[in-house]
Formats: sequence, structure tokens, C-alpha cells
Amino acid sequence: MCLREVAEKVKGCCKCDLCKVRKNPVPGEGDEGAEVVFVGEAPGKEEDEEGRPFVGRAGRLLRSTISQIGFKKYYITNVVKCRPPGNRTPTEEEVEACKPYLIEELNCIRPKLVVALGRTAAEALLGLKGPLKGVRGKVLVASAGGARVKVLVTYHPAAVLRNPKLKEQFVSDLKKAFNEVYKQRSLFDSG
Ligand code: URA
Ligand code: SF4
Repeated sequence: MCLREVAEKVKGCCKCDLCKVRKNPVPGEGDEGAEVVFVGEAPGKEEDEEGRPFVGRAGRLLRSTISQIGFKKYYITNVVKCRPPGNRTPTEEEVEACKPYLIEELNCIRPKLVVALGRTAAEALLGLKGPLKGVRGKVLVASAGGARVKVLVTYHPAAVLRNPKLKEQFVSDLKKAFNEVYKQRSLFDSG
């Protein structure tokens, strides 16, 4: 119920100018009882067209890695719920306008772990600035609307597509996230 209310608010939202250029708002998607929440940056072209998060090329990489590793109940969302024109990075104002929805989603779900995909998510959740190097792959603690939440930062899957050398690290970060959430090793580790 809680998540549905957030999704309804997102669908009717015009708190920033992105609502004027989006085709469809893109609320998060997944299980209310999710153990883990994956947070991207903002919808891209396919997401804008379908109104669903991570359904393009980067999304296919993310979703296939999630299922290979064996995550059970998860939720996928973005810091910003409407597509910035030409996939530019969302502005600070857009992030500030939209972030309350992410905080509400996290408060509905209360996941064991949040996986921040890329710099925008890491900045929004942890207040970090600058390169991911130094925080990637570590379990950190953030405050989300008063509640504490564990956050693991990794690369954005679109960065992995641009630079395949990052793939191994990306997969091992998601395995680490699996470990953290289920306190067991992914079956994928033995393969
Ligand atoms: N990139 C993102 O950050 N989010 C999506 O939903 C799709 C691509
Ligand atoms: Fe509202 Fe977020 Fe869309 Fe801006 S990006 S209009 S704040 S839902």
C-alpha cells in the first residue's frame, strides 16, 4: 500500500521541470517486502517510454546480474523519477525535488541494504561528492529521513557497458551485497 501511494504521487508530480519533458514518470518497481533496494540515477529513453525503471540495455545487465546472483525479493528505483533530456545528469535541484520519494520508498520497505548504482545515487544517499573510488564496494551507513540504512556503492551498469573492465568488480560488489543481505554466499560464486 505504502509503495503504491508513493507511485501515485510520482505519477502526478510536477515539482521540477522534468515533468514537462518526460513521456512517463517512472516510479520504482518491486516487492514491498524487499530485502534490498537498487537505486539508479534517472530513467533513460526506454524507461521514459515504458514508465518502468531499468528496462533498457543497462537495465538488462542489472536485472540479469541480480537474477544470476540469486537475489529474491528486491526493489529497483532511481533517485530522479523523470527522464532528464538527452540523459543528462540530473541537476542538484532536480535531485533535491525528487529525493523525498526515494526516502519514502525506503521508509515503506525498510530494506536490509541499499545498493547505490553510480555517483548520483551515492551522492544522494550518502552526501558524497567526487569519484566513487574509495567508497565503492564498502558497506556504509546513511540516514534516510531519520532512519539509518546500510548502503553499498557500486558502478552504474551503464558505466559497465561503456567500460567492460568494470564488470568483474560490479559483479563482485553485487555478490558482496547478496552476502550482506542473506548472510550466505551466492551459488553463483561456485560457478
Ligand atoms: N539508468 C538509470 O539510472 N536508471 C534507469 O532506470 C535506467 C538507466
Ligand atoms: Fe516530480 Fe521527481 Fe519527476 Fe521532478 S523528477 S517532476 S520531482 S517525480
